Amino acid sequence: MKKFLLSAIFISLAALSFIGCDKKSDSTVKTQGTDSRHTIKVGYVQVGHESAWRNANTLSFKSTFTADSGYEFLFVDADGSQKVQFDAIRNFIAQNVDYIVLAPVVETGWDDILKEVREAGIPVILSDRQIKVSDESLYLCWVGADFLQEGKNAVKWLTAYLENKNLGTEEINIVHLQGTMGASAQVGRTQGLMDGIASYPNWNLAAQKSGNFTTEGGKKAMQEIIKSVGINKINVLYSENDDMTLGAIEAIKEAGKVPGDDIIIISFDAVYKAFMKIITGEINCECECNPLHGPRVGEIIRTLESGKPVEKIQYVNESVFDHTNAQAVMLTRRY
Ligand code: AHR
Repeated sequence: MKKFLLSAIFISLAALSFIGCDKKSDSTVKTQGTDSRHTIKVGYVQVGHESAWRNANTLSFKSTFTADSGYEFLFVDADGSQKVQFDAIRNFIAQNVDYIVLAPVVETGWDDILKEVREAGIPVILSDRQIKVSDESLYLCWVGADFLQEGKNAVKWLTAYLENKNLGTEEINIVHLQGTMGASAQVGRTQGLMDGIASYPNWNLAAQKSGNFTTEGGKKAMQEIIKSVGINKINVLYSENDDMTLGAIEAIKEAGKVPGDDIIIISFDAVYKAFMKIITGEINCECECNPLHGPRVGEIIRTLESGKPVEKIQYVNESVFDHTNAQAVMLTRRY
């Protein structure tokens, strides 16, 4: 009956731009002195461990959802597999968690499993990547980055950079390394670049390949592109994350070119290692993607626990870095 009621609440709240949620009331009661409170059981299904960004994201959750803070935290690393994510979600249902937090590997294919979660009356909070579902009420809310905006930021930076170097009207050949195909980080950043190429007739897409967001993938894809396109034809590398960029930089150096000088390098994430590369001149531009979602999701759960509504879509603020502003931020970067 309780599950039926919760399902009904989710459905009826779907039309609202703000969504509140009654938490399940069967969590264990923990007593601290005179104060008694619930231990909140949270299941987090992570994409994997493909990148430095991802590892920072995992750490952010693990250090937020601690026993001392009143949580029981169940964590699954899906190693890039949506099937493993489905299995983890079913396991969280069986374990009767209070909340499921999902960082989806890809955007599509979530309708059926999220219907199962709704049947079980468990609120779903999406973190990092987004999903495409027929019914938006299948999840409670989402927090993460605006990947399309990140791509637009990159295009804006490149436009200004080329103009500054008096290359604004030159023919520019762009190599594009894509992340995991179908992940919203890939979809948004790719769209940003495609829009840029469509609006500048002198920008050409010289090659496009997925490096699956990993260093090895980035290096292999870049080596193949260098072989097919020819290193001398490449003016710009637009690489959808730092791990792939680091691999691609190795490939560019092995082909005898100077990254950041012979080839303009634009990357995404802005992890510490990438900041180092801005300082040494091997990366020209970093479009930030912030991985520290643990405290943000913690805040969402606290709000829900107090019976208040939360915003359905919550974007985080992100910056763009190059040699003009990297140094100061780099000193505080912990991932
Ligand atoms: O979804 C965020 C992306 O996933 C990050 O840019 C990338 O590094 C990670 O693997």
